[in-house]
Amino acid sequence: MTYGDYQNQIHLRGLQGVMPRFAVAAADLEAAAAAAMAPSVWTYVAGGAGDERTQRANVTAFERRGIVPRMLVGASDRDLSVDLFGMHLPSPLFLAPVGVLGVAAQDGHGDLATARASARTGVPMVASTLSEDPLEAVREAQGDTPGMFQLYTPTDRDLAASLVRRAEDAGYAAVVVTLDTWVTGWRPRDLQTANFPQLRGAALANYLSDPAFLAGVPVPTDPRSVIEHWTRVFGNPLRWEDLAWLRGLTDLPLVLKGICAADDARRAVDAGVDGVYVSNHGGRQANGVPAIDLLPEVVAAVGDDAPVLFDSGVRSGTDVVTALALGATAVGLGRPYVHGLALGGTDGVEHVVRSVLAEADLLMAVNGFPDLAALRTADVRSIPAW
Ligand code: FNR
Repeated sequence: MTYGDYQNQIHLRGLQGVMPRFAVAAADLEAAAAAAMAPSVWTYVAGGAGDERTQRANVTAFERRGIVPRMLVGASDRDLSVDLFGMHLPSPLFLAPVGVLGVAAQDGHGDLATARASARTGVPMVASTLSEDPLEAVREAQGDTPGMFQLYTPTDRDLAASLVRRAEDAGYAAVVVTLDTWVTGWRPRDLQTANFPQLRGAALANYLSDPAFLAGVPVPTDPRSVIEHWTRVFGNPLRWEDLAWLRGLTDLPLVLKGICAADDARRAVDAGVDGVYVSNHGGRQANGVPAIDLLPEVVAAVGDDAPVLFDSGVRSGTDVVTALALGATAVGLGRPYVHGLALGGTDGVEHVVRSVLAEADLLMAVNGFPDLAALRTADVRSIPAW
């Protein structure tokens, strides 16, 4: 079975009169999700920083790249597997951390639904600190598929240590520390609707289940007191000096998300970080930060010393292949799987993941790249305009 076989399954079902349940193209899926989701959830997922040029540019930056195909390779047996932080993964795709997964699903448990899709597909999930179900339950729902825990480092060091310890105990394979969100970027859509889910109590399960957090809440029975305390501890403006403390919190592989400058990447690896994760947070935090354009510089700076993860603007298997050819070790999918989740829970996420993997696999077949090592030798061209 190859990932590309998903297209045969769809066609065979068609012969039996059964059409695909979900849209196949990312844009169609997004339009369907926009129509189906509650407006406040939709604007939170779709919106970004400033005039949102960054999230648009993330997508067009992929559209302006192409790979020179190689013929007579006979890439009939493809191997998309990759070794990452001690995990042997069947593909280089992972589910990027998304903090409102819970409410994006109809039953309010989207983190669990996504985790179940991860279990079904073997594609690891990076579970966000901001979730509707505690990280232990999310990990359990991931079954035999390994997972990573994403930490928003709180200002309270005891709470940070507690969250990391819980992630270790729950069996996560790595800790991904997101650096670009200690303060929320200026997001006009959320401001226009005065909508910030966490202030309304959403996605706080990891805090409410944490003794170190609860110990600091003046009146734990009062929701307002809880949320006020959360706003006090949420965002830690980390500095390089803090990295040794962070490193010392765990023996698990430590990954820094939001590193985009080559110098920062090199410095992080030299300081003992196990991986860097190039991302502009899908254009939700800083406006005007490139993402895929910076990936090759980061890859060159890090060399073979650490894997480089990437997300931001990945909408298809073609984009996954492009990011891999530009040097990413693994590629994160963000908003598209949230659209699948909103439309069909676990089945919806599974469909999106299988579609992306099928497209990537078939593109590698057609272009003559049997595995990721071959893909890294690909000649990637810039296309000013189609
Ligand atoms: C995010 N992202 C994010 N990142 C993170 O480290 N922790 C989090 O809790 C969240 N939450 C979150 C919520 C929503 C609604 C979105 C869309 C994104 C960023 C995410 O991991 C990833 O970087 C982006 O989604 C990539 O951009 P695209 O490809 O989804 O546009």
